[in-house]
Amino acid sequence: MSAAAPEPVFRPPTFRTRLLGFGMRRMPFLLRLARRIWPIPRLGSTYVVTRHDDVRDVYLNDRAFGVPYKENLDVIMDGEPFFLGMGDTPEYHAGRDAMLAVVRRKDVADRLAPKAEAMAERIVAEAGGRLEVVDQLVRRVTFDLLGDYFGVPDPPGGDLRVWATRLFEFQFADDGSDALGAEVKSIGQRLRDHIDAEIARRRAVPSDKDDVLGRCLILQGQGKPGYSDSEIRTGLMGMIVGGPPQPPMVVPQALEQLLRRPDALAGAQRAAQGGDDACLAAYVFEAMRFDPIAPLMPRVAVADGMIAAGTRRRRRVPKGSKLMVGLSSAMMDSRRVPDPYRFDPHRLPHEYIHFGYGLHQCFGMHINKAVLPAMLKPLLRRENLRRAPGGAGRLKKQGPFSTELHVHYD
Ligand code: HEM
Repeated sequence: MSAAAPEPVFRPPTFRTRLLGFGMRRMPFLLRLARRIWPIPRLGSTYVVTRHDDVRDVYLNDRAFGVPYKENLDVIMDGEPFFLGMGDTPEYHAGRDAMLAVVRRKDVADRLAPKAEAMAERIVAEAGGRLEVVDQLVRRVTFDLLGDYFGVPDPPGGDLRVWATRLFEFQFADDGSDALGAEVKSIGQRLRDHIDAEIARRRAVPSDKDDVLGRCLILQGQGKPGYSDSEIRTGLMGMIVGGPPQPPMVVPQALEQLLRRPDALAGAQRAAQGGDDACLAAYVFEAMRFDPIAPLMPRVAVADGMIAAGTRRRRRVPKGSKLMVGLSSAMMDSRRVPDPYRFDPHRLPHEYIHFGYGLHQCFGMHINKAVLPAMLKPLLRRENLRRAPGGAGRLKKQGPFSTELHVHYD
């Protein structure tokens, strides 16, 4: 990472981010109540969807309930279309397919998961028994790993971790402040220029580095559609902004949940020590269920629609309404998730919706399924893993972002 990186990863907390944090802490209780007595509340023109079946219903009904991401994406991408902002159109599939051709499933087991584990092992070994999990471990591993894989290094005089996190905040947790908007315009421009410069540099001096950018340039050279310079830049930006900011949010959240449950922590440690990766992943994703990426994901009714059709709780949703889809609430719904408040690493895959569902299901899902547990594995292998004393040993958050969690180990 760049030595000249004066920018802090997070903006100083504002009244709005504090309010958001306050709201998020109370959200599980409110959603639990709503699931029981008012499963699809309407608040003004916004519908909140709380039950597991209805959450899937909304995610699958992309014709009525579309993503509201285009407006902010246009600021980040300077108007170039990225598939996250689109409905189910040929352009959506062309954009996603172009990236799927260069982000290959095989890479996950062949290089990403082993490398994530090796990088985490080095950090944990060098930390000498005292480690800050959010930045020192997870953010560092994630950005070094994925920056290298996508072929987007740290920009000269900038820090990719800061840029991507700020753009992610604007895209998914925009507090509407002028300061964030202004910062994003500048960072977006600098990131676009940086990736353009990398594209030009790599084309001028071809190397045999096998990364996503290198693969895009090969396909461009073969005249394949979907790989113009601006399409490559937009695809890479979408990956860098949509992906790496998230593991530093949820992996520390998962560890915090394990630290709260000594039996679960012991089970995860046994799996890590015994090299049982499937079992370790089951512990990590079960822990994440208690504090997933976001309590609510947004949708907008692009046509009149219906939620929970054929049931007594059905709701007609007029075009133009907003929807907040309860990802976390769905994973706590006892109608589909047996005994949801019990920590159970033997749950069935369909009980989880960590990575969304339907058309916009996370592009990096297969990477996440292997890489998130791999990042924690070296730490979980350590004996006597425990919280650092005092407040430092409790996960701190700012709005939706994890900011600090200190642990000790032998
Ligand atoms: C902890 C890690 C991650 C979590 C929890 C996560 C979660 C999600 C969720 C819930 C969605 C659906 C959004 C919606 O429906 O509104 C999504 C979409 C997406 N994610 Fe992830 N993600 C993670 C990491 C990544 C990574 C590492 C990448 C890139 C390699 C990535 C790339 C994307 C992209 C491009 C989309 C949009 C997909 C589409 O529109 O078809 N994510 N992610």
